[in-house]
Amino acid sequence: MKGIILSGGTATRLFPLTATTSKQLLPIYDRQMIFYPLNTLIEAGIKDILIIVSPEHSGQYLNLLGSIFSQNKIRLQFKVQKIPRGLADAFIMGENFIGKENVTMILGDNIFEKNFSSEIKKFRSGGLIFAKKVRDPERFGVVKFDENHKAVEIVEKPKKWISDFAIPGLYVYDNRVIRAAKEVIPSERGELEITEIHNFFLEKGELQVSEFSQEWLDAGTFETLLEAGKIVKEKKLYEKFNPLINEAILKFNQELKILAKKRLI
Ligand code: DAU
Repeated sequence: MKGIILSGGTATRLFPLTATTSKQLLPIYDRQMIFYPLNTLIEAGIKDILIIVSPEHSGQYLNLLGSIFSQNKIRLQFKVQKIPRGLADAFIMGENFIGKENVTMILGDNIFEKNFSSEIKKFRSGGLIFAKKVRDPERFGVVKFDENHKAVEIVEKPKKWISDFAIPGLYVYDNRVIRAAKEVIPSERGELEITEIHNFFLEKGELQVSEFSQEWLDAGTFETLLEAGKIVKEKKLYEKFNPLINEAILKFNQELKILAKKRLI
């Protein structure tokens, strides 16, 4: 299983914060947001991870993550997405990286309380996405279930209510996702929509949708950014991180302190 973190985009809703850095590098309590999706992938046992970033922030990502994981336990690669063409673009950009394997893609601004390790490790083929009941489904990709809780319809930001179940930014697909992404036609807003990929597998009867109830935060607005920080602190989510990440952050902090003492930063 390969992993992709989609961490580009322009994040205009968070101006002026995102005039100087990437949304996914903004702080969530004591660490940058990107560590949360990174943790979700590492907890699931994924060791090869591609981080897709926007051109103006690529240097910042390298400074933070470029050398943080030693001894090759986690292998990070970076790729620059020049234009935010849509979520499904991640699989086209990641074609060589994915190779012949399956892939889990997570959005760089999605923070999950839940550990998805067992679901991801059990995955064999088709598509696996998740569903969470929300109060504002019109903001998300939405899935409608029939009376047997079988997914029957998936729509991106429906104008008319179809269901309260939003689809969070964590997607597991088999290798056919690359072909599916190449077939996606840009939507009215000009993006390669991820919901087209879900529908590719849904139409084949090969899409599994798994509901969960734990916290899910999409930190894309001032309100949700603040709320994410508060929830993370209240629930002490930073304490539940994979040791590989907590050790790497600790070591990085120590190195920074040494450099600061020498007045090199
Ligand atoms: O958060 C979950 C939702 O994410 C899903 O329910 C929707 O189905 C999905 O389309 C997406 O909706 P958003 O409106 O939140 O997507 P947004 O444009 O904000 O992009 C999500 C993240 O991906 C964001 O951190 C920026 C990054 N991104 C986005 C695009 C379009 C990229 O890195 N490249 C891109 O081309």
